[in-house]
Amino acid sequence: MYHPALFKGMNVVVTGGGRGIGLEVARQFLDCGARVLVHMGRTIAADRPEFLDLAAAEGRAFLAAADFVADGGVERLADVARSRFDSVDVLVNNAGTMVGRFPAADLTDEQYRTVVQLNQTSVVEMTRTMLPLLRKGTRPAIVNTVSISARMGGSPGSSIYSATKAFVATYSKALARELAPDGIRVNCVSPGTITTDFHERYSTPEKLEATRKTIPLGRLGTAEDCAPAYLFLASHALSGYITGQVLEVNGGQLIC
Ligand SMILES: NC(=O)c1ccc[n+]([C@@H]2O[C@H](COP(=O)([O-])OP(=O)(O)OC[C@H]3O[C@@H](n4cnc5c(N)ncnc54)[C@H](OP(=O)(O)O)[C@@H]3O)[C@@H](O)[C@H]2O)c1
Repeated sequence: MYHPALFKGMNVVVTGGGRGIGLEVARQFLDCGARVLVHMGRTIAADRPEFLDLAAAEGRAFLAAADFVADGGVERLADVARSRFDSVDVLVNNAGTMVGRFPAADLTDEQYRTVVQLNQTSVVEMTRTMLPLLRKGTRPAIVNTVSISARMGGSPGSSIYSATKAFVATYSKALARELAPDGIRVNCVSPGTITTDFHERYSTPEKLEATRKTIPLGRLGTAEDCAPAYLFLASHALSGYITGQVLEVNGGQLIC
């Protein structure tokens, strides 16, 4: 746990914060004093964790929903951000998922477009639309979620998803150079195999156990293992001389 005032008074936007890694990232930013616009995903679930409503009642959390695959979805979230914040200090582009396992020969145009829109295009759109607010922020930072699959190629049926994550990693490196003169740092967190709803949907228990055996630290990761990396990369005090980097959080699953 970082210092409870590390992000005091700062405005943070976290996409895909309704569950999994994004939810824990939002929780830890709130625990460190930030005001957080939590993009909950496509809907705001009634059974959301209580801490979000408590922070909302204090005026520190703002909950929003937007489908990033629907026309105008990202712009709807940007409108909420502009209505809540005059400036943004931290943008975490985290919303994403594999959508499904699509063998290359059977991939439909619709499946391709959906995976690319959600995991790749929405990051570009969200970044573009938040830049005016980020430029008004204090020592601003962007932290993008990529994936171990960007480096390792992923597993069968995930080729487009894995490639979108590689796109975001390279896009982030290019942006880091481009935005450095504006004082905006851009980095990525690259989770390994993390036990969220993601793998409930796309991996069998047998596949996960086989993966676990390849991990030097001997276990799959958790959202709690990942979240501190986001706060580290978002904090000027902790990582002010780091930009254009991808921080791998995977228990040693990828060492190179
Ligand atoms: N878990 C892993 O092993 C792993 C590994 C590497 C990278 N990642 C990446 O880490 C990020 C978070 O994943 P996670 O494991 O926490 O997954 P998760 O529990 O499935 O959460 C994904 C988040 O993205 C949101 N999202 C999905 N489709 C969306 C859409 N069409 N429009 C807007 N938001 C949408 C979800 O909202 P809904 O509730 O509306 O679906 C949810 O808030 C993703 O970018 C994922 O690719 C995960």
